[in-house]
Amino acid sequence: MARIGVLTGGGDAPGLNAVVRAIVKACHTLHGWEVLGIEEGFVGLIDTERTRLLTPEDVRGILPRGGTILGTSNRGNPFLYQAAPELPAVDMSERVVENVKRLGIDALIVIGGDGTLSIAQEFTSMGVRLVGIPKTIDNDLSGTDVTFGFDTAVVTATEAIDKLHTTAESHHRVMVLEVMGRNAGWIAIESGIAGGADIICIPEIPFRTERALDAIRLRDAAGSKFSIVVVAEGAEPSGGEQMRVEGTSGSRARYAGIGNWLGDRLAEGTNHEVRVTVLGHVQRGGSPSAFDRILATRFGTEAVDLIAGDGFGRMVAYHGPDVVSIPLSDAIRTPKMVPPDGAHVRTARALGICLCD
Ligand code: F6P
Repeated sequence: MARIGVLTGGGDAPGLNAVVRAIVKACHTLHGWEVLGIEEGFVGLIDTERTRLLTPEDVRGILPRGGTILGTSNRGNPFLYQAAPELPAVDMSERVVENVKRLGIDALIVIGGDGTLSIAQEFTSMGVRLVGIPKTIDNDLSGTDVTFGFDTAVVTATEAIDKLHTTAESHHRVMVLEVMGRNAGWIAIESGIAGGADIICIPEIPFRTERALDAIRLRDAAGSKFSIVVVAEGAEPSGGEQMRVEGTSGSRARYAGIGNWLGDRLAEGTNHEVRVTVLGHVQRGGSPSAFDRILATRFGTEAVDLIAGDGFGRMVAYHGPDVVSIPLSDAIRTPKMVPPDGAHVRTARALGICLCD
């Protein structure tokens, strides 16, 4: 019997448990393979106490659950591993390769975003037989139309916009909603269109505050006494820069503050009261949407098929309506951003949504 290792790395996303469940079920049903769950991403391959066998009974009932039963970490890069913040980073990659052998893992399934999948690519070069599954709420991975987790985040942000609409209208206020996405504006543009926002600021199009003020004044003149503004956390004012906070998220900067910054300027420049909502990790939590459950499940079963066909060093991907596979290296080469002249932006402009450029 073969043994398949599975780990979830980086920030969590709704649908991770659905993938783990699909992998365990497909391994057992189709091949009679054993699945070893590895906890906290690659950390579980450095400290092998953090592994456990996953049977179909272990994954019963987890399909609708957010988070990941395996735990995850965005601080567990084995090539630059820091056991504690005060300790220097050391290269534990050889130890991981040895542990994969020692644990009797015949093939590994790595579920993660660009950071985790870049680490996976390095292990592929060191001879580890693995396949990748893309996840991120940001939807910024190349090579796949969409990642699971994204749809749920958009649904959450859209529901927030719907709620802000009713209170904005009652009080004649300007409501600013800051959403996640790092350097990519996918959550902002999709939720903004789905929620009927009036103004959307995305990182791919530096924004001019004056344009947002003009849009609000135009609405006022037309009798619409409230406005909804969606701003991506990584959006930047034209000629300015992205707003960050102290500390890091794994090895990356943390974005925050642009919603309040913009809100202050809109309050100064109009007669409206302005309120700012920072949606934050609500977008990452909770039950996956039906779309994400199906995508995650299809990714899981396709990853098992890839292993059965010796498709190592590849990542499953959604090329709607098909689930296919592509070289891991293609997925991590460049992040996928909202094209400033692409279909989403054109749709927004056609609706009269102000993108502030
Ligand atoms: O990449 C997913 C994401 O949720 C981003 O949208 C956000 O900027 C970041 O992770 C937040 O990271 P953390 O959970 O470390 O605060």
